[in-house]
Amino acid sequence: MQVIKYAFQQHGDQRGMLVAIEEYKDIPFEVKRVYYMYDTRKEVHRGFHAHKNLEQVLICVNGSCKVKLDNGVETKIVSLEKPYEGLYVSNNIWREMYDFAENTVLMVLASNYYDEEDYIRDYDKFLEFVKKRKEGK
Ligand code: TYD
Repeated sequence: MQVIKYAFQQHGDQRGMLVAIEEYKDIPFEVKRVYYMYDTRKEVHRGFHAHKNLEQVLICVNGSCKVKLDNGVETKIVSLEKPYEGLYVSNNIWREMYDFAENTVLMVLASNYYDEEDYIRDYDKFLEFVKKRKEGK
């Protein structure tokens, strides 16, 4: 599984740092939704789902966390530790976020509006779904 982690351009001077993210330039999709998680807890894991048709970029704008990605065949663990890093997560990827540092804010840029119908929240159904997609069904 290829992991795509962006290092966005940082604009910095004595005033501090700034990162700008433009759709189709810095990330490969149009951003229809932004959401973020905060008041997360170190011992709590989140996510546990995949999407049928949704691209996302995960950014720890403060703090850090780990993200486990699973394409049904292999898994990869990615650390997000810098506010200029973005992890691209395509559809058909089961994800879990965990190991949140104190005061972490995990922001997500998403290619579509919230739609519960697009979620696969059952791991066995996810495995079935990726198998069928591979077979072109
Ligand atoms: P949930 O998908 O359970 O979060 P996690 O990323 O940990 O899997 O979402 C938590 C709640 O927020 C759930 O009730 C759905 C709601 N929600 C929205 O209303 N809009 C959104 O864009 C997202 C991502 C979640």
